[in-house]
Amino acid sequence: MKKVHIKSYGCQMNVYDGQRMADVLGQEGYVETATPDDADLILLNTCHIRERAAHKVYTELGKLRDLKRERKADGRETTLVVAGCVAQAEGAEIQRRQPAVDLVIGPQTYHRLPELLAQAKSGRIVDTDLPPEDKFDHLPAPKLAAIVARGVSAFVTVQEGCDKFCAFCVVPYTRGAEFSRPVAQVIAEVERLAQAGVQDVSLLGQNVNAYHGDGPDGRVWTLARLMRRIAEVPGVARIRYTTSHPRDMDEDLIALHRELPQAMPFLHLPVQAGSDRILAAMNRKHTGDEYRRLIDKIRAARPDIALSSDFIVGFPGESDADFEETLRLIADVRFASAYSFKYSPRPGTPAAELSEQVPPTVMDERLYRLQTLVEQHRQEFNHAMVGRTVEILIERNGRHSGQLAGKTPYMQAVQIESAAHRIGDRVMVQIERAGSNSLFGRAVEQPGLAA
Ligand code: 5AD
Ligand code: SF4
Repeated sequence: MKKVHIKSYGCQMNVYDGQRMADVLGQEGYVETATPDDADLILLNTCHIRERAAHKVYTELGKLRDLKRERKADGRETTLVVAGCVAQAEGAEIQRRQPAVDLVIGPQTYHRLPELLAQAKSGRIVDTDLPPEDKFDHLPAPKLAAIVARGVSAFVTVQEGCDKFCAFCVVPYTRGAEFSRPVAQVIAEVERLAQAGVQDVSLLGQNVNAYHGDGPDGRVWTLARLMRRIAEVPGVARIRYTTSHPRDMDEDLIALHRELPQAMPFLHLPVQAGSDRILAAMNRKHTGDEYRRLIDKIRAARPDIALSSDFIVGFPGESDADFEETLRLIADVRFASAYSFKYSPRPGTPAAELSEQVPPTVMDERLYRLQTLVEQHRQEFNHAMVGRTVEILIERNGRHSGQLAGKTPYMQAVQIESAAHRIGDRVMVQIERAGSNSLFGRAVEQPGLAA
């Protein structure tokens, strides 16, 4: 039996792509293995968003070259594939830096993996086309057993690419222009997932709320309309979407958080910075106050919503006063969680050309202050859950026997002790304690009694 090891870096879309590549390779007789040592095919699904992420790939490739040599000495061949956004951005440069790589394949050509692997046998191959053809038409549906093995929560990419061109970001170049999958195709995929027991669906896209897919009625559907339709699929209890741009939060999508029970009270809505000068330089197309007003509207529709964001510190030209504006915005909004990064210049992006780069020590200090504040708010949000009773979707077994782990509607991890419940149950749980990364609680109802 041929074995493939897939290692995904970066965002959730890469995780999804990794699964779809596993589905393609499954048809070719490959089974997945968790370690590279016994794999005939090793596939790195890479991320190019920050320099460090891209750099990691070359470190990993160095190790894999050694592994490939060792296996060869034992008479075993290994095919080394680099996929994902580094592949798209750097193409043939990857094989120049690491000749052990057999195949470099961009995110739009995964459906051609079998054919490209065959060609790679007789020489090294690079394929980073951004073809207009829809790869999703050609990717096989996952086997039911594969879906079951992946659990009760699943990702579905509904949109790819980005037309926003934030000045720091490589995505518009690596993933290309915005593209939305047709509604019928998304629904078919969600139905299949639900048949295999998936209850929690996360709709993915680099700019997911800009979704504009062709509907079965010949019209263009928005994300809100798509979500209302997905909510009709039997078995789908929870729907989320990520990542959204503030400019594309339309009224209907906001109203959905009030109206649709399956729409989870969780929203990842990156703001990146708080200073209007920096937001303009970033080409974000919104001010700090516009973002605040948007948050007010969203909270008016769903007061308990958990908000999450991304922040960049040290964008070129960011002064102390600009950074204080970011802290002020954080203090005003009080996010339930956030990701934060030091600015990393990316080749080909407008910001990389700017002269006023912020010194690394200043970035370190700003990142520390920002993360300290966000962490304080995250802890407050989690502690406010203590005493409340919320529905948990059990996703996996906990670390100890008798322990189960799941998520609240707000995306918080929860551990419960219960011999009576199992994975896939939705259980009303009273939260008793908040740890630093997890909540702890007890089931307040017996299985079978849940609504
Ligand atoms: N430097 C640092 N962070 C970046 N991000 C995107 N590009 C860069 C960059 N050049 C961050 C943004 C984005 C998240 C996915 O990664 O915050 O929302
Ligand atoms: Fe990058 Fe901005 Fe597009 Fe997000 S919205 S993918 S940060 S260009």
